[in-house]
Amino acid sequence: MVAVAILAAGRGTRMKSDLPKVLHNLGGRSLVERVLGSLCEIQPTRKFVIVGYRGDLVSAALEPLSELEFVEQTEQLGTGHAIQQLLPHLEGFEGNLLALNGDVPLLRSETIKLLLDTHNQYRNAATILTAHMPDPKGYGRVFCNNESLVSQIVEDRDCTDAQKQNRRINAGVYCFNWPKLAEILPNLKTNNDQQEYYLTDAIKILEPVMAVDLEDYQEILGINDRKQLAAAYQILQTRIKDRSMKAGVTLIDPDSITIDDTVELAPDTIIEPQTHLRGKTKIGKGSRIGPGSSIENSEIGNNVRVLYSVISDSTVADDSQIGPYSHLRGRAQVGSKCRVGNFVELKNTTVGDRTNMAHLSYLGDATLGDGVNIGAGTITANYDGVKKHPTQIGNGTKTGSNSVLVAPVNLGENVTVAAGSTITEDVPDDSLVIARSRQVVKPGWQLKKE
Ligand code: UD1
Ligand code: MG
Repeated sequence: MVAVAILAAGRGTRMKSDLPKVLHNLGGRSLVERVLGSLCEIQPTRKFVIVGYRGDLVSAALEPLSELEFVEQTEQLGTGHAIQQLLPHLEGFEGNLLALNGDVPLLRSETIKLLLDTHNQYRNAATILTAHMPDPKGYGRVFCNNESLVSQIVEDRDCTDAQKQNRRINAGVYCFNWPKLAEILPNLKTNNDQQEYYLTDAIKILEPVMAVDLEDYQEILGINDRKQLAAAYQILQTRIKDRSMKAGVTLIDPDSITIDDTVELAPDTIIEPQTHLRGKTKIGKGSRIGPGSSIENSEIGNNVRVLYSVISDSTVADDSQIGPYSHLRGRAQVGSKCRVGNFVELKNTTVGDRTNMAHLSYLGDATLGDGVNIGAGTITANYDGVKKHPTQIGNGTKTGSNSVLVAPVNLGENVTVAAGSTITEDVPDDSLVIARSRQVVKPGWQLKKE
């Protein structure tokens, strides 16, 4: 039986931010959400998040995740003090407590499982994650009696010069036998440089404490400042890109590309340089995205070409071409075999199959059928200054260049709109509509004037 506690009450002074540290974003998810994500291989009976500094923000951000219990640490007197707040909540609890700092976002779920399994196998009082860090500055140093039995943890700022030479660091991820920890928690002292109650001091008192040493020290990087946040992002990117390439995705110039780990890429897709894929984006097989494109929370089908374009909250079906320089947003839905070209913006617009809009258009709140052709410079005037209005364009309809469709308006099927028309009234199927003044030519006029 295991309960989990995530320490998320600290302000994160070194971030120099109004936002609590654990809510800072790392590749599409907050630090604390990532820590919660590392628990997916274990089934905790209870999950506590200890909140304090701007606790309202932290609990609001995590509210949608189910079954979390928020415990308030009103004054942040240290990591030991944070865990002391659990005493009334876990009275009589006989299982283990997995305690994790909220700022260790790169942990793998397999590692958490290994920590727990080791703890149970050896029946330790506590088991902790450690690693040898090339630059251990800022981390607590772990001292062992033998290879894996821990005697104490000394914080960087409390270390003697000799102790600082030890590169074995405390990851801030612990599994405790709760009854044993609960017994000694009230005895923690504040005799350290920060005058805080350190959870790490519990390690000195408990016995036996075992270290689980990780080879990949990057996994347990703690985020305390913006530089470490940026470093963690790079590590995350390397992980995501390695995984994508292994799964059959070609990345051209990977260093210039960024991909959130919530993005799904099918095999034989090619991602070109300077392309950024964010949020819940899905890209189908054999598509070619970029260069210079940004796609967020969007679904792109198979064999789609996207060139120098921006797409958010939208979908594009198979075999369509987007760009160069297109902008799809606000739930734009493009069908298959469509062409959306140069300087075309689609907002909350549904486009059928085999429909083209190749140049210079704005289509907002519109519904287009199949086989439509939107002439260069066609604009939906969807906003009357107060409200947005819809435009319907039926199958096979063609708009001439520089047409303005004043919404609400309904163009039937197989309509032809003459170039330069301003359409203010509905047009029935199979008609030609011309809504512009006739050209007047006055021969010899210039001559006469002179
Ligand atoms: C801590 C460890 C250190 C370890 C490092 C790993 C202690 C004393 N030190 O140091 O040994 O190497 O993590 O990253 O534990 N928090 C609270 N309440 C508080 C104070 C902190 O909830 O009163 C939370 C913070 O929000 C944070 C976590 O605890 O998520 C760790 O606090 P932080 O100040 O980052 O500790 P470190 O100095 O990094
Ligand atoms: Mg930290």
